[in-house]
Amino acid sequence: MVRQSCQWGVVVGALLAAQSILAAGIDGHVVDGDDAPLAGALITLIRADALYSETVYSDNKGRFHLDTALEGKLTLRARAPRFADAQQTVDLKTKRSANATFAMRRLTSPNELSDGLTGSAQFKRLKFKSETQREDFQNDCLSCHQIGNERTRKAAPKEYWQATVERMLGYVGSNNPETLAEYVELLSKAFDGKPYIVEQSTDVAPEMLRAKITEWKLPGALIAHDGEVNPKDGRFYLVDGDAVFITDPVANRTETVPVPAMGVPLGGNFPAMGLPIPIGMNQSRHGMHSLQYGPDGRFYITSALGGTITSFDPASREFKDYSVGGGALWPHTLRFDRKGRAWYTLAVSNHVSMIDPATGGPHTAHTTSPVPFLAIDPDGDRPLRSGGALCDVGPTVLQLLGLERPSEMTGMDLRERKAAAVRA
Ligand code: HEC
Repeated sequence: MVRQSCQWGVVVGALLAAQSILAAGIDGHVVDGDDAPLAGALITLIRADALYSETVYSDNKGRFHLDTALEGKLTLRARAPRFADAQQTVDLKTKRSANATFAMRRLTSPNELSDGLTGSAQFKRLKFKSETQREDFQNDCLSCHQIGNERTRKAAPKEYWQATVERMLGYVGSNNPETLAEYVELLSKAFDGKPYIVEQSTDVAPEMLRAKITEWKLPGALIAHDGEVNPKDGRFYLVDGDAVFITDPVANRTETVPVPAMGVPLGGNFPAMGLPIPIGMNQSRHGMHSLQYGPDGRFYITSALGGTITSFDPASREFKDYSVGGGALWPHTLRFDRKGRAWYTLAVSNHVSMIDPATGGPHTAHTTSPVPFLAIDPDGDRPLRSGGALCDVGPTVLQLLGLERPSEMTGMDLRERKAAAVRA
């Protein structure tokens, strides 16, 4: 009994401690230039190393409360549509709580208002001649990045758009001169450097007032895809370039695990295949794209540039490469089936492939689409028949060489029948 009450004491003590941690934080309010409350402003508290932040919204009275376990000198930033960004320093070292007021400056100049619009609002400047053209443009351009943000809406002469659109269409393997000319026209007309004045609605939804956004910035990462949680340690795992990022959402720290070269050269398998290294990736070997947690407790990663599947064991920190082989380019997205095999797509070479971690071997599925077969025989008088299969290639080559088809071969000569040329 005594022992039990002792235990209660410990639990209550822990609860009180937790409450005092939760009570710490920042209270404040946000007002506009006329001292009227500003609802829906984003208030972000940023740790000194800028790798971690917490955000809440101001309520209908312009008030906000941000619970935090962060300490020390921190940056507090306020943002609201049609207002200039504001920031101040708060010190949570001594009192563990603080008050902050933001008096936001309303934007008035047309240029500032235009620059404050979202990229998607700026996208509306593009005047498509038809719905089909809009759809084509969205497929051609928006699959990689936004059009309308600061970098992609520069006012520039037609020569700039000509060179840029040609390069961009090249990334997706398109060289249609008509499309190129149309897009150059569209873009150079839309982004003329003049301010774009439209009213963009920004309603404050009730859910926003209860929301808290926590962000962990991955040090040095550029485009990290598809985070996965490791059920064994509760950490987030992401990959980018030649590194695995492991984020601990309790300690709020990210560990960067560099991936060894494992014999993969800079630029991955692109130089060996006589292909240019994709833009911005010449310092990378693996160009890791996405990952999936496997049934064996390892992560399986599509190494897009290196053309391999890489496994990573979070316990031993060991990496292992599985070659994809063939002309396979850009392993992209991977999923496990019920038998524990990893199926993945290859974006550039347009394949579906599989590895079985149990055997370690790659398996490339046969396509059901037609595959060209060419036989060049200067003396030939028998055209190729239709409806061939892969098993027909061996018998055809043997018979072209004048050799008998062994009975174990089930295929048939791909040339059209001539009396007695093919044994049934
Ligand atoms: C395959 C991915 C991909 C597609 C599709 C794509 N882009 Fe890009 N875009 C990039 C990359 C990567 C960059 C940065 C490197 C560069 O400028 O080449 C970029 C940069 C840009 C830039 C900024 C260039 C500069 O001067 O800084 C513009 C503008 C742009 N793209 C427009 C477009 C348009 C218009 C389309 C459709 C025709 C398009 N993009 C399609 C990947 C893509």
